[in-house]
Amino acid sequence: MNNNTEKNIIEIENLEKSYENGHIKALNGIDLKIKEGEFVSIIGPSGSGKSTLLNMLGALDIADNGSIKVADYDLSKNKKLDEFRSKKIGFIFQLHNLIPNISVLENIEIPMFETKLSGKERNNRAIELLDIVGLKDKSKKKPTKLSGGERQRVAIARALANDPSIILADEPTGSLDSRTSKKILEQLNKLHKEKNVTLIIVTHDMNVAKLADRVIEVLDGKIIESSDNSLLNDNIKIYG
Ligand SMILES: Nc1ncnc2c1ncn2[C@@H]1O[C@H](COP(=O)(O)OP(=O)(O)O)[C@@H](O)[C@H]1O
Ligand SMILES: [Mg+2]
Repeated sequence: MNNNTEKNIIEIENLEKSYENGHIKALNGIDLKIKEGEFVSIIGPSGSGKSTLLNMLGALDIADNGSIKVADYDLSKNKKLDEFRSKKIGFIFQLHNLIPNISVLENIEIPMFETKLSGKERNNRAIELLDIVGLKDKSKKKPTKLSGGERQRVAIARALANDPSIILADEPTGSLDSRTSKKILEQLNKLHKEKNVTLIIVTHDMNVAKLADRVIEVLDGKIIESSDNSLLNDNIKIYG
């Protein structure tokens, strides 16, 4: 961890979320604090509530009960969530969600439409971001012309567009081969280290989880284990 600050960027207390009129309890009392600049991985079996938790952190969904504060925004109060998302959060999904019929460059520009940047500035920034993920030469291509790993790198560039404080990644390497996964992870880890970005990755892959400062294990909508990486041992199961 980058120990230059001890501030909590995330504070969650007793967070609950259910679906289907309360029949499915996706989150069942989550308490969690994450420090600014920390790299946390979230593991747990399918259906345990990992994506729901990540969606709450990114204000893509709203909890039923409990409190959730992220980067000085009180998300339970349900105000200015668009501003919060565009200023603070970079989201990377398993299936990258790029828009297929516009260029790679235009895909990266999309989050910047919510800012005051001019067209020229958006363009320059998108090129700079493509350079960071090593895809400057592909800027004019449509996502459909890229490999899975390249698309995921575009998704990373897009997530970085507005210089987020927090990157939320939901199984970002789930659809990639191990060599490409490693590259993607190296890139995310580099951002975390160099820019003190708080990085939260949901993953099935223990090789990914092990890179984090802390591994959080979720089961039935609850956190059942939170281990410092230095204490990682065989008690943590490998899912998937
Ligand atoms: N939009 C939704 N509507 C109904 N049930 C949902 C919805 N999203 C998630 N769930 C349910 O909530 C539980 C947790 O899901 P999820 O957070 O996606 O788990 P994970 O990401 O760990 O696989 C599961 O039982 C899932 O079926
Ligand atoms: Mg999920």
